[in-house]
Amino acid sequence: MNRPGGPGVLRLTKASAPNAGPGQVVVKVAAAGVNFIDTYRRSGVYRIPFPHTPGSEGAGTVESLGPDVTTVRLGDRIAWANSATGSYAQYAVVDAAQAIPVPTGLSLEIAAALPLQGLTADYLTHSTYRLGPEDSALIYAAAGGVGQLATQMALAAGTRVITTVGSPAKVGAVEALGVAASQIITLSALANLAQDLPAAVRQRTDGLGVNVAYDGIGKDTFAATLASLRPRGMAVLYGGASGQVPPFDPQELNAHGSLYLTRPKLDDYIATPAELQERAARVFDGIGTGSLKVSIGGRFPLAEAAAAHEAIESRQSQGKIILYT
Ligand SMILES: NC(=O)c1ccc[n+]([C@@H]2O[C@H](COP(=O)([O-])OP(=O)(O)OC[C@H]3O[C@@H](n4cnc5c(N)ncnc54)[C@H](OP(=O)(O)O)[C@@H]3O)[C@@H](O)[C@H]2O)c1
Repeated sequence: MNRPGGPGVLRLTKASAPNAGPGQVVVKVAAAGVNFIDTYRRSGVYRIPFPHTPGSEGAGTVESLGPDVTTVRLGDRIAWANSATGSYAQYAVVDAAQAIPVPTGLSLEIAAALPLQGLTADYLTHSTYRLGPEDSALIYAAAGGVGQLATQMALAAGTRVITTVGSPAKVGAVEALGVAASQIITLSALANLAQDLPAAVRQRTDGLGVNVAYDGIGKDTFAATLASLRPRGMAVLYGGASGQVPPFDPQELNAHGSLYLTRPKLDDYIATPAELQERAARVFDGIGTGSLKVSIGGRFPLAEAAAAHEAIESRQSQGKIILYT
């Protein structure tokens, strides 16, 4: 990308292969995950220097080592989140300290699908608000990337889970995770989201509202999120797929019942190598044992990265979108 803009600013170009600096490795990328943050950077929501190679996560094989690398070897299969130069490329430079080992038997495609959304679902459900059997949780966009993984983690914790999907076509994907049809609210069926969604949530929680709401949609849903919580509940605003939430009055937290509001981001929950590896091991173990499933909702060649962005921005995608090299 040479400038911010719509998906059309993504162009496949030739570049010289990168070199690894101290503490870094060069990886031959097998697959790169597509994430909303890539679209925020592309469109100018997050300001970045240009030219820019997008891509925050991926998986591949280590091709060369920079000086002082002791924890990663040539030929290792690794994945990464937020620790590489752009992953939408044939080669990426990854910080060795942040390399996530890919277990034997796990494909590089699945490994590429997990770091960002899997680690995010992990910290949201284990750390931002630690879910348990006493809790009820509202999870938006449960057919989406983070949504499918967070829903499975919440169910595994024994939490009462209420989910949303944008349209009827996505209900099946959420039922397949183990959510009863009665706990899936289809947003397109609501005449007034800000009023009807909280009412639907309260109807499913004995009139109380949920303990925690995981809202990655943002602008369109934030008012409904606050109104769906029980007193002292927590609003976890972790994204803005529909746009960023405008400034708001903290008195609203008071009015809705002494609510908590947090706006978390992944980097703060993988700030040390130990925390990163602990979360990654939990996610990869879940995939290995079959207790966690990731569904690949679309595969695009690198040259069609613009179409991959259109797929997630148009609200058509389900599960994880992957670019392959
Ligand atoms: N804070 C963090 O650490 C962190 C890390 C990773 C991702 N995120 C955020 O998490 C959110 C979900 O990310 P994801 O990669 O898993 O995406 P995704 O869920 O696969 O896609 C976003 C979903 O949001 C829903 N949506 C509602 N209104 C929308 C609109 N106007 N435009 C587009 N989508 C809309 C759609 O589901 P329905 O049609 O079913 O409503 C869509 O499928 C994003 O906001 C992302 O920025 C945050």
